[in-house]
Formats: sequence, structure tokens, C-alpha cells
Amino acid sequence: MKLVFIGTGYVGLVSGVMLASGGAQVACIDKDIDKISALKQGKSPIYEPGIDQYITQPNNLFFCTNYKELPFTPDAVFITVGTPPLESGGADLSYVFDASLQAAENTSETTLIVIKSTVPPGTANNVQNFLESKGYKHKVVSNPEFLREGKAVYDFLNPDRIVIGTQDSIAKAVMKDIYAKFDNLLFTDTTTSELVKYASNSFLATKIAFINEMANICEKVGGDIDVLSHGMGLDKRIAPDFLKVGPGFGGSCFPKDILALNHLAKECSEPFYVLSAVIESNKKRPHHIVERIKSVIGDLRGKKLTALGLAFKADTDDIRSSPAIDIIQIILEQGGIVTAYDPQAMQNTKASGLQVNFANSIEEAVISSEAIIILTEWQEFKNINYKNLGKNTSKQIIFDFRNILDISSIRESGFKIYQLGKINDN
Ligand code: UGA
Repeated sequence: MKLVFIGTGYVGLVSGVMLASGGAQVACIDKDIDKISALKQGKSPIYEPGIDQYITQPNNLFFCTNYKELPFTPDAVFITVGTPPLESGGADLSYVFDASLQAAENTSETTLIVIKSTVPPGTANNVQNFLESKGYKHKVVSNPEFLREGKAVYDFLNPDRIVIGTQDSIAKAVMKDIYAKFDNLLFTDTTTSELVKYASNSFLATKIAFINEMANICEKVGGDIDVLSHGMGLDKRIAPDFLKVGPGFGGSCFPKDILALNHLAKECSEPFYVLSAVIESNKKRPHHIVERIKSVIGDLRGKKLTALGLAFKADTDDIRSSPAIDIIQIILEQGGIVTAYDPQAMQNTKASGLQVNFANSIEEAVISSEAIIILTEWQEFKNINYKNLGKNTSKQIIFDFRNILDISSIRESGFKIYQLGKINDN
């Protein structure tokens, strides 16, 4: 198969590179010249574990800045451009429409246009009508993405399902060829396909908000949130994933997609009360976290604090809608002084202009610190020798807001530890 991916963000790059690894001829187009020249040298513009080996390897993977440089005529063009949120809460689809029109202008009418970006229901149909109004006969297909950042390579190779929205038999056959190595394709109409994506992300976000609020209850009445989630997850109807307590869900997908679905619900006069509550719950989460800190160390003014973790979750350099950043922002507003360390997300955070001191290591970050606050669940934060670390801090207090540390060994190393969803008797 000959495939083109428009946009080399997380979705486009990983899907394109991985389909090339399966044998397809793939060209990734991005108008960002710097990104393309880095990719041509085998360098990924994003931190995604495992992706580098697939970028450097093949001679069937091309990177270019426009259609003129394409080495082949594609069977399908995948649209993997951004759909940023509008102020209204809806999604900005201008990049999707522009990219689809360009695809039609530069390919033959047998080339499928496959929308992989997360888009509201009805978008593939609207793009189809738009292209027809311009005289193009290309078929538009929906094929939403379910890759997680940081685990995208694994997820690509082990998908729970591949959802494809089209009712055209020729388009179905092409999509079956593209995904010939997989046997879990779900064919449906384009609108249902688009909705599966929004509904899946919103449902997972709902699970997280639920467990975070259960944790708040545990903090008041006792009980252990980690055992509680395990107990719930043992029920096959509930399932154990996405029940891990934390500082709130972030990233470029959940917050945006849940807002977009909620906006859609309002637009069609079907208020989605559950989603509104989840959005509100997650918005309150950073404030709840800061109050937890204050309940132990009091007023934050002038206090030196260490933030371990800036990325919205481990194994990524992405800080978009990161709860870590929101929490640090509130601490700064309340007069705290923050030194931060993250194994991958420092560069992006520096570029964001966040007013913290950046340390080059955990050891450097904790010097004279009155409390260490773990905000991202990096393995590095689990492995550190806290006994040694405690020698450089001003006070020995850890707020583990990802519940990743073993309470008794941390106490043995001389620290007081506070986790979410438990009464912390130090
Ligand atoms: C999410 C979905 O999981 C993917 O299936 C989807 O393809 C992707 O969005 C997308 O729409 O592109 P991602 O944003 O990479 O993937 O991150 P997740 O691993 O889902 O985590 C999202 C947020 O929830 C993170 O802030 C994470 O820390 C938080 N989380 C996750 C929890 O607080 N608890 C959990 O149990 C799980």
C-alpha cells in the first residue's frame, strides 16, 4: 500500500512510521521544515519510547514538506492534523478541511481521504460534501486513533480494535488491505466511528474523575484508595484500567475531547450532565491538591518546594493541559517558590515561560526544599534513594500525588509521606 500522512504530530508520526514498519510505503508530510529535516536525519521531534528505531530503519518511509516531493501516488491520505479547542468548547476543524482539500487537489479520485484526527460526529460527511462541492469525487473515511502517548508503539501493534467508518465497499476493501495484519476491524458508518472516539475518551476521563472523588471521600472517612480501586477493578464489568488516583487527567486529548462532546450535547439540546460534572471535577482537582499541601505545611508564602514531574503523565515530554503545571501555577500564585525537575519535559516547560527554577537532577531539585511534591509517575522517582536525598532537604516531607511510593520504606528513610485517598498518619 502507498500511504500519505498529513501532520507529523503524535498520531500522524506514530501511525505512519508503524504502518511503514509493516511494509507499506509511507510518506509523512508536514509544513514544518525543521521537523521534516530532523526526521530525515532519523530524529523524532517528539519523545515517544521505541519510535526511534522505526524512523531510522526503512527505505519505504519518506518525509517531505509538500505533495510535489511525493515519491508515489497514494492509495490513501490520512489526515492527522490538530483539532484545537475553540473558545466555545467546540473543535477548530479548519486544519482538517484545508488538509482534505489539499489532499483532493493533489491526488487522483481513487485515493481515499481518511480522517484520523479526533473530530465531531458528522465531520467526515461534511468534508465529503465540501469536496463534492469543489468537484472532487474522493471517498472520505473515518478512522479514529486510540494510541496513548508514551505507549503509542505498543498500542499500535496491539490495538483493542480498529474502528473504520465507511459504507463504501471499495473504501472498505482498501482499509482492509491497509490493516491486513490485524483481525479486529470494526466497520460502521462515519458518524458512529467519530462518536466512538469521543465517547471512549470521555468515558475513560469519567472513570478517572470518579476515582479521584472517591479518593477525596477516603481522605475524610478512612479507607485506602489503591486497595479500593483494585477491589473495584476485579469486577470484570468495571475493569481495572483508568482507576488510578492522581492529580487529575490532562494531555492533549481527554480535556479537549470531553469539552467538545459536552459542547456538541449542548448544541443539540441534550445536556450531558455526567460530562459537565466530570469537567467541573477535573477543574477543581489542582485546587484540591494544593489544599492538601497547605493542610500539612500551612501558608505557602516564601516556602521552597520541589516539584518532581511536569509532563501530564510519565513517558512523555508533553505538558499540554498537564495537571502538574496547573498545580505549580497555583502554588506560585500563592507565593511558593518552586524548583522543578522532569526527565523529559523540561524543555517544553522552559518554552512555556513557567516561573520556576529548573534543576538538572532530582538531587539538585531538593536542595533546601521544605517539601517534595511528586506530580508525574516517572520510574526515576520510584527508584531514587530517599534516605540519601533527605540529607539535602530542609524538611523531610513528600507529597506523593501519584501514589507510587511504598509508604513504609519512605518512612524508614526518615520522610513523612502524604498520598492521595488515604488518611496519612505519619
Ligand atoms: C488518551 C487515550 O487513552 C488514547 O486511547 C487516545 O488515543 C488519546 O487520548 C487520544 O485521543 O489521542 P493519552 O492522552 O496519551 O491517551 O493519555 P492517557 O494515558 O489516556 O492519560 C490521560 C490522562 O489521564 C493523564 O493525565 C493520566 O495521568 C491520567 N490518568 C490515566 C489517571 O489519572 N489515572 C489513570 O488511571 C489513567
